[in-house]
Amino acid sequence: MAIENLLGEKKWLISEESYKPDKLPFYETLFTLANGYVGVRGSLEFVSQTSCPGTYFAGVFDATLDAFTELANAPSWIGLKVVANAEEVDLEKGEILDYRRFLDMKKGILIHMLRWKSESGNITRFESYRLVHLLHKHTSLIVGTIVPENYSGTISIESGLNGYTFNTGSVKQLKIKHFKLTERIDRKNDGIYLEMKTHATGISVGEASKLTVNVPSQRDVRYDIDRITEVLTFQVEKGKNYEFEKFVTFYTSRDVGNIKAATLTELKKRIRQGSETLLQEHVSVWRDRWKIADVKIYGDEVAQKSLRFNIFHLIQSANPNDEKVSVAARGLHGEGYRGHIFWDVEIYMLPFYIYTDPKAARSLLMYRYYTLNGARKNARINGYRGAQFAWESADTGVEATPREPLVDLSTGERVRIWTGDEEQHIVADVAFGICHYYDATGDDEFLTKYGAEILLETARFWASRADFDPQRGFYVINKVIGPDEYHVHVNNSVFTNFMARRNLKKALECVKKLKTSYPDVWSRLKQKIALEDSELKEWKKVADNIYVPYDESTGVYEEFEGYFKLEDIMIGEPHKQNAYVVPIELLERINEATLVKQADVILLQFLLSDEFDKRTKKANYDYYEPRTTHDSSLSRSIYAIIGAEIGDHEKAYQNFLKAVRVDLDDNRGDTRLGIHAGCMGATWQAAIMGFAGMKIHKGKLTFNPRLPQKWKKMEFKVNWHRKTINVTVTKEKVQVTPANSIFTI
Ligand code: BGC
Repeated sequence: MAIENLLGEKKWLISEESYKPDKLPFYETLFTLANGYVGVRGSLEFVSQTSCPGTYFAGVFDATLDAFTELANAPSWIGLKVVANAEEVDLEKGEILDYRRFLDMKKGILIHMLRWKSESGNITRFESYRLVHLLHKHTSLIVGTIVPENYSGTISIESGLNGYTFNTGSVKQLKIKHFKLTERIDRKNDGIYLEMKTHATGISVGEASKLTVNVPSQRDVRYDIDRITEVLTFQVEKGKNYEFEKFVTFYTSRDVGNIKAATLTELKKRIRQGSETLLQEHVSVWRDRWKIADVKIYGDEVAQKSLRFNIFHLIQSANPNDEKVSVAARGLHGEGYRGHIFWDVEIYMLPFYIYTDPKAARSLLMYRYYTLNGARKNARINGYRGAQFAWESADTGVEATPREPLVDLSTGERVRIWTGDEEQHIVADVAFGICHYYDATGDDEFLTKYGAEILLETARFWASRADFDPQRGFYVINKVIGPDEYHVHVNNSVFTNFMARRNLKKALECVKKLKTSYPDVWSRLKQKIALEDSELKEWKKVADNIYVPYDESTGVYEEFEGYFKLEDIMIGEPHKQNAYVVPIELLERINEATLVKQADVILLQFLLSDEFDKRTKKANYDYYEPRTTHDSSLSRSIYAIIGAEIGDHEKAYQNFLKAVRVDLDDNRGDTRLGIHAGCMGATWQAAIMGFAGMKIHKGKLTFNPRLPQKWKKMEFKVNWHRKTINVTVTKEKVQVTPANSIFTI
């Protein structure tokens, strides 16, 4: 098949039009192909000095030098060497006549087209596509064509399994090799097999591959450090097409007992199916996913393509079939934040999955269930009761935030990071995610078997975390970090206290529901976690009497106690156009200034929307907006949502645009370390909950659209209590089919 014919409509393509070595790590992130089980960065087939290749299996963590765990960079199968008449195709040499790569978001494939002239004048055309199968999650495929345009002779192609891989992360000097070789086999006609094992966690990864070409060839196998490579050599005639295929399969010891047998059986099966069938199946699964997940925006091509790009990566990042993994802050796309899982999941990404793929949403919440024991341990270590979910979570749920990572190896400078100790709102965020999922799905089975236990254990945490202040007659929560991480060790963060109160109240509601509808579940659960009746009374007392700093005269919530007394600093207009960079001298005393890193009180007003009237929302937006630097990619979409709600339409749209293109424009300069998955989820919410104005109100799904000026129409689907609902929004009206259980404002 001519690879070019595979290219779909332009509006579904993200392209790289020329070879710029410095840009490669950025494109590697944009072009990552993943299926929630494994993520493969979009590296070139050919060696490049600037490349940062990466293959990450969800849940395969290993220990690092500074004793914290990270997602380990596994053996790679992407590399391919083409040698034509003794000259290797090398983009640093010769001349590149044509170079283009395309991510086809509709089909989930990456296409590469290259024409290259060697130093001796031989022109080789190379075209390939690759996929990481969305249905057969243990399979990847690379198919390509090589054309010797103006010469005949001998070509060899070499490709195999390369276990000589490192984690480089953000600190290059801390480069780590996580895998050691345990087995490699030449299986002759059946390809090759490589097995490696992580040093500390002892997880084995098995990979098998088979390389073929459509003409008779001589096959050799080469061994190099931690590598095994198949080499096919064949005669070529000028102008003819030579087609190659590489099937790859993989398993880890997280999945099965005998990974070798599983990997090899899988390889046999996929080869038997053939590349055409595999491709068709893959494309058709993508088609099905897009059927429900696509958001059509009429009148704004930039927003349309960018939002699709974000949706594409969200689809790729979750695995509905694995309840023991979640989506890392940077996806399976790079090593930023070491592959750790944050509140980004429950607050920013989860709604996308709840409404487009509830099974995936449930799996993400199950990850919290399976890490509940880790969370219990965190609480115990810190002197609290119940469950304290980790600010940065990995495989076990035990706190994984580095406390004192080395920031500068030459000076040995260490910076104390307090988020793992103090950013405790994560506990209530997890509970919030559970309630959101339940409200939208009515999944009683999940609630009774798993969700309730999390709700109760998190409520228990807050009850033990809050202190009664006898002087004021309120419960206080001191020494925390709210979403605005510029301020540490703060007392009574509005966000934290409101969310903790919500957590306690929801737990009490859940108890009531269990008592009346599921008495057996209630008595079993009560026994399991040794819950006393007196605790329930205490929860109510804390919830009813939690302190919230608020200025009645202005209607503005004080982000935390004492915030209004800080040095008041606002961001000037010119800075607001672009990212605001906090000047160094200010950075040193940022804790003493009113600058806010990211949506905090404003986020609260979105999450607990019904607890604030429009006037209060506007007062808080007007106050906080000029003080917010949007130093986190999670911030702008939330300002877009509240901005749209209170009528600051143009700014809402501008904030949305910046957020929705965070990775496509490399707005933050660190896309090379992986996608900003939370930001991507937040942009979906900005479109659906901000501009289409969707929200759950008194148990019903409601719409109150405020489309940006440019947008003529939006069309999308959402799942609501096991039904798929089609939504069409124009400036004049909202149409939903079927219409029952929904009303529009
Ligand atoms: C943000 C956090 C976020 C983390 C990972 C930080 O910069 O302040 O809110 O969870 O990045 O995305």
